[in-house]
Amino acid sequence: MISEAQEPVRLWGKHMLQTIDACLQSSGGVDVDALRHALMAAFAEYGRPAIETVVAAENLARYCRIPLSISPDRDYSALVIAWPPGYATDIHDHSGLWGMLMVLDGKIGVENYSFPADQPESIKQTGEAVLDVGASAGFSIENYAHRCRNTSTTEHALSLHVYGGDLKSYRAFIRDEKDAWRVEPRRGVLNEWDVFGE
Ligand SMILES: [Fe+2]
Repeated sequence: MISEAQEPVRLWGKHMLQTIDACLQSSGGVDVDALRHALMAAFAEYGRPAIETVVAAENLARYCRIPLSISPDRDYSALVIAWPPGYATDIHDHSGLWGMLMVLDGKIGVENYSFPADQPESIKQTGEAVLDVGASAGFSIENYAHRCRNTSTTEHALSLHVYGGDLKSYRAFIRDEKDAWRVEPRRGVLNEWDVFGE
């Protein structure tokens, strides 16, 4: 049941999903840069939900991944991530899926990595960027990994993410004390709150 207070959040989510659907349909395949630009235009038009409307107060200290849609009919995953101050992910891949993120509030630092397909333990950092509000980054190569973090130690950040499939599994890249890399299979967890009401 969607309350009146949640209606703007639900509408915002609907606009984002319509933008993604239209972009993926019109390009007849995946053009991650076209999707980034479509969503940046949608952000300029519709703005962002306030963080307290997508994450309840008792969950604000947690890293929260909130799906925009839990419909199995779509062949992509779209979610909003709420980042507590200073929170950083492990270095991780997305099992070869294409993907993108756009910053809705705060700043997100992204370290980029690549690795040979048959030798993921030879992972190497290839770059780093800090994305401000409205900025986005995408990836479409299979052998790509990244670490994302909220660069602020005092403020929350909020971001929108789209991936070309199911997020149930991924790999984390862990560097041990001898500087050797270990690759661990992981299970992705979404906080399936019905915030966006789809
Ligand atoms: Fe990621």
